[in-house]
Amino acid sequence: MKIGVFDSGLGGLAIAQAIADRMPQYDYLYLGDTKRVPYGSRSQETIHQFTAEALDFLFDNDCRLVVIACNTASAESLRKSQQEYLPKHFPERRILGVIIPTAEAAVESGAKKVGVLATLSTVESGAYVRELQRCSPDVKVIQKPAPLLVPIIENDGLKYVEPMLDDYLEGFEETDSLILGCTHYCLIKDKVRARFKGTVISSDEVVPLKLQDYLNRHPEMETELSKSAKRQYCVTDLTSGYASFARRIANKDLPLEVVKI
Ligand code: DGL
Repeated sequence: MKIGVFDSGLGGLAIAQAIADRMPQYDYLYLGDTKRVPYGSRSQETIHQFTAEALDFLFDNDCRLVVIACNTASAESLRKSQQEYLPKHFPERRILGVIIPTAEAAVESGAKKVGVLATLSTVESGAYVRELQRCSPDVKVIQKPAPLLVPIIENDGLKYVEPMLDDYLEGFEETDSLILGCTHYCLIKDKVRARFKGTVISSDEVVPLKLQDYLNRHPEMETELSKSAKRQYCVTDLTSGYASFARRIANKDLPLEVVKI
């Protein structure tokens, strides 16, 4: 069986790639819901509905577990998916998100005052605040939505990112750590690091380690994973723009397959 990686679009490829680099032996199935991206400005109900449809596809296609690489879907749908969707549809499978491991990594690195930069839905869900304070009740959290970064990064607009970062990073001066709470921000982590003096936590650096640890703690699941190093990349819509965004993330052409979910 495979490891599924789900994102609202293609930004999650950065996380999928980091996971596969760390554990190349497994078979991976990536699904990017490019037809309906972005999720970051949608309602909780819609995000959960889209996520459930993506999970159906991934579990029907033999995924033993699914990593929701999308922060927005993790924030708005992970709990409901684990508590309601999974027991009803695929009780033996598992779903993991990115918010809990990323919040844990921030607290483990000694963070006391944490900044969170994310989509509007992720910020409004309060998921990072909840998970950070669950790990460390005294931690202070300042959140800020950065809605313009996703389209700029997707459209190869990195040269426009610097002035935006000046604005978006304002208010985080007093924080000791900054969580990049969106798949796409992994791609500008060096630019953020050049500006932010504290620790920058990027999910592509955290999630592979946490997933490996999870699999070590769940040998019953690990032994069911097939190990032929196969990679499959599925999207719900494909344009030349998506293909070139995927190429920029992966540093090579990816065989993107269009599927219906
Ligand atoms: N993948 C989303 C996230 O990590 C960003 C793109 C979107 O808004 O769908 O929050």
